[in-house]
Amino acid sequence: MAGLFLYALCGSLRKNSSNLALLEAIGAEARNGLGVEICTLIGDLPIFNPDHEGEVTPNAVLELAQKVRSADGLIISAPEYARGIPGGLKNALDWLVSRDELPHKPVMLVHASHRGDYALEALTEVLKTISVTLVDKAFFRINLLGKTPEQRRDILADRETRDMMRTHLETFITTIEFRAKFEV
Ligand SMILES: Cc1cc2nc3c(=O)[nH]c(=O)nc-3n(C[C@H](O)[C@H](O)[C@H](O)COP(=O)(O)O)c2cc1C
Repeated sequence: MAGLFLYALCGSLRKNSSNLALLEAIGAEARNGLGVEICTLIGDLPIFNPDHEGEVTPNAVLELAQKVRSADGLIISAPEYARGIPGGLKNALDWLVSRDELPHKPVMLVHASHRGDYALEALTEVLKTISVTLVDKAFFRINLLGKTPEQRRDILADRETRDMMRTHLETFITTIEFRAKFEV
């Protein structure tokens, strides 16, 4: 796991986001030199416009693309908005669709609610369309919906929950390392 870098995309821009709390808790389980960084660029991206790709690609998009390129894998956690993917996250993915950073990139999807299956299904479909390597075995969900920050902290600090998060993270890392070793 030494030296690996995971980039985490949060579908919610809320400061007090439960999806962000989940991603932070996963990052806190990183061991042995594994780095987890949460993307802070999604809210800065302009609305996707194919006319603004290529040589006129906006700097914020180039910055995002560079981070994604340098990552050994992505972790994505997103709420459901109006039975769909949050616009900001979809916009970020749209900017990356025609580029070469995402295809075959290992992705771990997690979810911070017992609801939101429409968004999960749609996101899975989008990610498959972009040809990422979705590591299904690494998926897990924890219900943080409607919990206060204190309740969330308790849930995410629970030993069993932490063990579960670490096990799934290790599954993801093992898959990344296997794929790198055998170049699949
Ligand atoms: C505009 C809006 C639309 C929403 N639509 C849905 C929905 O269709 N289905 C659902 O399960 N939850 C829906 N929710 C609830 C959010 O998914 C839920 O509050 C989620 O935990 C927010 O994530 P966050 O804490 O990371 O910001 C919606 C919330 C907002 C603000």
